[in-house]
Amino acid sequence: MLSGSEAGDIPEHLDQPGGEYPDDNAADENDENGEDTAKGEDTANRVVLVTGGGSGIGEATCRRLRAEGWNVGIADRDVAGARRVANEVDGIALVVDVGDPARVEAAVASLVRRFGRIDALVNNAGVGNLKRLEEYTPAEVDLIWRVNVAGTYNCLRACAAHLRESGGAVVNMASVSGVRPTQGEAPYSAAKAAVIALTRSAALEWAPSVRVNCVSPGFIRTPLNEMLAGDPSTRRGLERRTPSRRLGSVEDVAGVISFLLSPDSGYMTGQNLVMDGGTLLSSSQMDPVLGSLIDPDAFEAK
Ligand SMILES: NC(=O)c1ccc[n+]([C@@H]2O[C@H](COP(=O)([O-])OP(=O)(O)OC[C@H]3O[C@@H](n4cnc5c(N)ncnc54)[C@H](O)[C@@H]3O)[C@@H](O)[C@H]2O)c1
Repeated sequence: MLSGSEAGDIPEHLDQPGGEYPDDNAADENDENGEDTAKGEDTANRVVLVTGGGSGIGEATCRRLRAEGWNVGIADRDVAGARRVANEVDGIALVVDVGDPARVEAAVASLVRRFGRIDALVNNAGVGNLKRLEEYTPAEVDLIWRVNVAGTYNCLRACAAHLRESGGAVVNMASVSGVRPTQGEAPYSAAKAAVIALTRSAALEWAPSVRVNCVSPGFIRTPLNEMLAGDPSTRRGLERRTPSRRLGSVEDVAGVISFLLSPDSGYMTGQNLVMDGGTLLSSSQMDPVLGSLIDPDAFEAK
C-alpha cells in the first residue's frame, strides 16, 4: 500500500501507474453527453471496476476489456499485481481489501472522481482452500466468507448508485463449487453458492436499470491452483475427467465476462453461466457400476 508521502495528495488506496489521470474536463464532457452515456453507448469512455484484477482471471479480464476500449480500475489487495496490470492496461490501481467496506467505498469514490462514472463492476476477487470440512479453522472460514461474499456485497453496495446512473452491468464470480459440492472446499462452496444467491437478489432489485449476472467456471489454470495444474499427472487426470479434454484458460473466462457486460447479453439478468468444459454434465460423472461395463478408451476424444 502506498504511504501518504509516496502518494502525495492522492488517497492512500489509489495509485496511478498507468500514467496521468484523465483531466477533470473529461469527466465533465461525459456528463454533458446525457442519454448516450447514461445507457452505456458511449463506448470510448466506459469505466469498469475489476476486483482481484492483479492476477489470474481478473488480470485477463482487465486485458480483454481494455482491448475493447474500457477504462479499467484494478482493485486488488496486492500492490505489485495491481500496479503491474494497471501499467499494462493504462488503468488505475486501487489498492484495497474488498472485505473492508469503508476502503471499498473510498476506492470507488476515487475511481468516480477520476473518470466521472462507473459502467460496470466485475466482482472477481476470491480466495479458497482445500481441506476436510472439520479441519478448517474459524479464521480460515471467516477469510473465505469475507473475501468472496462480503467483498462482493461491499462492492455492489458501493457501486449501486453509479451503476444505476449509467445503466450498467455487473458480473459476479462464482464457481462450479457453488453449484455442486467439491470435496475439501466446504466453506468455498457455501460462499460461492451465496454469491449466486446474491446475484439473483441484486438482479431483481436493480432491474430494469442494472443487469447482474454471474459466471461459474470449472477448473481454470491460474496462480490460485498452480500447485495442482502444475503437476503433469494431476493435470492429465483433471483433463481426462473434463468432456472438453482440457483445463479452462483465463481468456475463456474473460470472454464470457465480456459477453455478460456487452449488449449481446442485454436480455439476461440474474443468471449463472456455468463454463466448465462440461464437467457438470451427468454423463461425465459415470455411475461406477455402468462404468465397469465399458471400455473407457472407447470414449476418449478422437
Ligand atoms: N481458477 C479457478 O479454477 C477458478 C474456478 C472457479 C472460480 N474461480 C474464482 O475466480 C476468481 C479469481 O480467481 P483466480 O483463479 O484468478 O485467482 P488468483 O489468485 O490468480 O487471483 C485472485 C486475485 O484476487 C486478489 N484478492 C484476494 N483477496 C482479496 C481481497 N481481500 N481484496 C482484494 N483483492 C483480493 C488476489 O490478490 C489476486 O490478485 C476467484 O473469485 C475464484 O474463486 C477460480
